[in-house]
Amino acid sequence: MAEQTLDNSKGQFKSRFGFLMASIGSAVGLGNLWAFPYKMGKNGGFAFLLIYLLMFATVGVVMMLTELSFGRKTGKGVIYAWRTLSNKYTFVGFLGWLSPLLILGFYCMLGGYCLKYSIANLGDIFGAGWGVHGADSGKFFTAFYSSQSQSVIFTIIFTALTVGIVLGGVSSGIEKFSSIAMPALFFMLVIVIIRSVTLPGAGAGLSFVFKPKFEVFEGVGWISVLASAGSQLFFSLSLAMGIMITFGSYMSKEDDVQQSAVIIPIADTIIAVMAAMATMPAVFAKGLEPGQGPGMLFVTLQYVFAEMGKAGPVFGFIFYFLVFIAAITSSISLVEAVGASLMDHDIAKGRPVKRVKSTMIVALIITIEGILISLDGLGTHGILHIFGQGTALDVFDLLSEGLMMPLGAFLTAVIFGWIHPDYLDDDIEQGGQTFKMKKYWHFCMKWIVPIIMALVLVGQIDGFFGLHIFS
Ligand code: PHE
Repeated sequence: MAEQTLDNSKGQFKSRFGFLMASIGSAVGLGNLWAFPYKMGKNGGFAFLLIYLLMFATVGVVMMLTELSFGRKTGKGVIYAWRTLSNKYTFVGFLGWLSPLLILGFYCMLGGYCLKYSIANLGDIFGAGWGVHGADSGKFFTAFYSSQSQSVIFTIIFTALTVGIVLGGVSSGIEKFSSIAMPALFFMLVIVIIRSVTLPGAGAGLSFVFKPKFEVFEGVGWISVLASAGSQLFFSLSLAMGIMITFGSYMSKEDDVQQSAVIIPIADTIIAVMAAMATMPAVFAKGLEPGQGPGMLFVTLQYVFAEMGKAGPVFGFIFYFLVFIAAITSSISLVEAVGASLMDHDIAKGRPVKRVKSTMIVALIITIEGILISLDGLGTHGILHIFGQGTALDVFDLLSEGLMMPLGAFLTAVIFGWIHPDYLDDDIEQGGQTFKMKKYWHFCMKWIVPIIMALVLVGQIDGFFGLHIFS
C-alpha cells in the first residue's frame, strides 16, 4: 500500500527510553508546573483534580493512543497524516499545525520569563547586582514584564535555545536533550517538594489538594470546572497539536504503543500533582491565596522564596530552572511538530528533506510573534486589543488552546470514532500485539471524547466572551 511507505529521512528516535523522555518532556511543561496548580487553586482544589482524573482516563489516554498510532501508521507529521487518511481531512491537519505555531510565541516568552527568574535567583545566591534583592515580588514582576527590551531579549534567547536543539535533529537533538533534562527535572522537583511540605503550616496546602470538597460546583459551576480541566488536560498532554502524531511517526514499529499511551499521561499527571505539592503547601504556609491565577508562578512563589531567608535563592534557582527545563522540552516539540510538516512537503514533492531550512522558517515566524507578544508586556502596552481580550497572549491563547484545540480534538474523535473506526487497528496490532483496550477505546472515541470536547468548546467560548450561558 502506497500510504504505508515510510520515509525516515526526517529522523527517528533511537531508543524507547528516548522516545518516552521526549514525549513526556513535551507533555510536562508550563501547563503542569504553572497552569495546573493555579487552575486547581481557582477551581476548588480536589474537585478539579477529580474531574481532571476522570477525563484523563476517558479522554487523555484514548486520544494519546489515537495520535501516536496515527503518526506511526502514516509516518507523517500532522498535515500529511490527515491527508494520507483522506484529502478531505487536510483542514483538520491545518488546525493541528497552526495551533502550535500560535502557541509558540507566548510559550517562548513565558520560557524566557523562567530563564530571567532563574538568573535573578542565581544572582541573589552570589549577592550579585542582577538579583531580586529583597524587592517586592509583585513590583519586580511588573517591572520585568513591562520592560519591553528585557522581555524581548529573554524571549529571543529562549527561542534561540529551542531552535538550536531542534536543529540537532530528532535523535541527537530532541532525544538526547530530553533524556538528560527530564530525569534532572524530576530530581529538582523532589527537592522543592521536600522544602515546601516541611514549611510550618504546609499541611493546609496538602489538604487543599487532596481533601474532598465540592463547594466549587455551586460557586464556579461544574461546566466551567469541566471546561477548565478539559482544556488543561489537552494542553498538558500536548494533544490536538500535531505533536504526538509527529512523535509517533518517529517511533519504532516494535514499540508497544498502547503501553506508551498510558505511560506518558501517567507521568504527566504525576508531575502535575507533584507541582501542586511543591507550590500549594508553600502558598498556604505563607498565608497566601491559592486562587489568584497566573501570578502564582512569578509573584507568589518568588515571595515564598524571598521569605525563606538565605536558602531562598537556592530553592528559587532550582525551582525556576526546573520550570525552564520543562518549558524548553515542550517548546522543542512544538517547533518540531510545525517544522515536520514543512519537511513532509519536501518529501511529497520528491525533494530531499531540509531540516535547517524548515526549522528556520518556523524560527522566523515565532520570533516575530514572540517579539509582538513581548512588546505587549502582558497588556501594559496594549499592542493587540482584539476579540475583547486584554493581552496579546490571551488573543493567541484563545485562538489556539481555546478554539482550535477543542475543535480539532472533536473532529478527531468523530473521524476515528464514527467514520473510520478500524483505521488504526493494524498499526496497534502489528508485531503480534493484541489491541487490549479496543472496546474501551471505541466506546470513548465514539461517545465520551466528542461530548466532552463539545462541552469544553462551549465552555471556553462562554468564558472568553463572558456570555454566561451556564450561569
Ligand atoms: N504540554 C505542554 C505543557 O504542559 C505544553 C504544550 C502544549 C507542548 C502543546 C506542546 C504542545 O506545558
